[in-house]
Amino acid sequence: MLTTLHAETAQALPPSLEPSGVDATHQALAELIEGLIQADSAAFPSRFQALLALMRLHIAEEGGLMRASRYPGIAEHEGEHHRVLGELVQLNLSLKRGRLALVRAYVKDGLAPWFDLHLATMDAALTAHLERQVG
Ligand SMILES: [Fe+2]
Repeated sequence: MLTTLHAETAQALPPSLEPSGVDATHQALAELIEGLIQADSAAFPSRFQALLALMRLHIAEEGGLMRASRYPGIAEHEGEHHRVLGELVQLNLSLKRGRLALVRAYVKDGLAPWFDLHLATMDAALTAHLERQVG
């Protein structure tokens, strides 16, 4: 279901500046983060892989939109994306070494609040910019 949604989303994005595809990715990311918090130890690793893949998609989608629309806040926004992606990549290595509790704590206490704040600030500012461009 998520795979289908995001294959369609990725194809439907740039060169259009329509932000609705980004909204679909945000919704899917929020669901994945919540699912990870609830996941048992058997399900957690594969769901974390899905989160990593979807975060890469989020970054690619928004990066494309920011460049296409000449978004003035691109450096700060992309810097934040890449900082968090770097953390997720490092945590994936920790997960593969069996440090499930560490990764679980990061998702619940670090990633979930970060995502809420990112949505409310940087992503909201980008969406407002895109809506002004589309008119
Ligand atoms: Fe973003």
